[in-house]
Amino acid sequence: MSTSTQVAVIIGGASGIGWATAQLMADRGDTVIIADLDGAAANARAAELGAPATGYRVQVTDEIAMRTLFDTINAEYGPIGAVVDCAGISRPGTIAELSLADWQATVDVCLTGAFLSVKEAARSLRDGGSIVLVASLNGRQPGVAMSAYCSAKAGVLMLAEVAAMELAPRGIRVNAVNPGFVHTPLTQGATLVPGLVDEYVENTPLGRAGTPEDIGQTIAFLTSDAAGWMTGAAIDLNGGAHTMRYPNIVQRIADMTTTSTTNEG
Ligand SMILES: NC(=O)c1ccc[n+]([C@@H]2O[C@H](COP(=O)([O-])OP(=O)(O)OC[C@H]3O[C@@H](n4cnc5c(N)ncnc54)[C@H](O)[C@@H]3O)[C@@H](O)[C@H]2O)c1
Repeated sequence: MSTSTQVAVIIGGASGIGWATAQLMADRGDTVIIADLDGAAANARAAELGAPATGYRVQVTDEIAMRTLFDTINAEYGPIGAVVDCAGISRPGTIAELSLADWQATVDVCLTGAFLSVKEAARSLRDGGSIVLVASLNGRQPGVAMSAYCSAKAGVLMLAEVAAMELAPRGIRVNAVNPGFVHTPLTQGATLVPGLVDEYVENTPLGRAGTPEDIGQTIAFLTSDAAGWMTGAAIDLNGGAHTMRYPNIVQRIADMTTTSTTNEG
C-alpha cells in the first residue's frame, strides 16, 4: 500500500476498531495520535505503540475540547494528514421505551461527534488529507430496538457525502466504512444474549463475525495515497450481511427470559 508518512488522529482509538486501526497505521509509519474519552487507556495504548505515538483525552461531543485537541496537535506535530472518528456508543431500546436521554446520548456521540470531527479536521488537515468516519451496517439496515444508533449512523453516511463535496476543492477526501458485527467491548453485551451472535452469523454470507483488523485494514487503505481517487464513498465491511437481515434483539431477549422462567418453574 503506497502512502507517505503522515500525522494521523484516531478519535476513539483506545479500543476495538480504533485501536486495531492505530496499530496498522503506526506499523506503516504514520505518527499516530490516539484521542479517547478514556484518557488513561489512550495514554496506555500510545505507550504500547511507542514514540512518536501520543495519547490524549477528549470528549468528542465537546466542541471546545475538540478544538483544543486539534490546536494542540497542530502546534506539536504540524499539519495533520488523516483523521479517523471511531468514537461510538449504542443505547438500545424500542422507540416506545427508549428515553430521550438515551436517544440524545447516542446521537450526540455517533452523529454530533462525527460532525465535530469533520469540522475540526477541516480546520486542521493539510490540503490533500483525508477523513474516515466509522458508520455501521445499521446505517443502512434497520435493527429492532436500535432506532437511535441506526438513525445516527444513517446520518453519518450523509454527513460523509456532504463533507466530501465541501472539502473536495482542497483535495481532502472523506469516506465512511460500515462495519457489521465485530467482537469489541462495544458488542460484549450482545454475546450475553443466547443465540444472538449465532443469528447474526447465520445472516452473514461469509459465515463469521468481523475482527477489528478487518475494519482497520480498510481504514488504513482509505487514509493512504492508494485511495487517492475515493471520496464520498461508504464501504460495506460485513461479510455480506447487508444482503440479508439483522437479528431481532428484543425477540432474542424475550426468548432468553422465557427460557429462564421455564427452567425455574
Ligand atoms: N463493534 C461493532 O460491531 C461495530 C459495528 C458497526 C459499527 N461500529 C462502530 O465502530 C466504532 C468503534 O466501535 P468499537 O466496536 O471499536 O467500540 P469500542 O467500545 O471498542 O471503542 C469505542 C471507543 O470510543 C471511545 N468513546 C466512546 N465515547 C466517546 C466519546 N464521547 N468521546 C471520545 N471517545 C469516546 C471509547 O472510550 C472507546 O475507546 C463506533 O463508532 C461503533 O459505532 C462498531
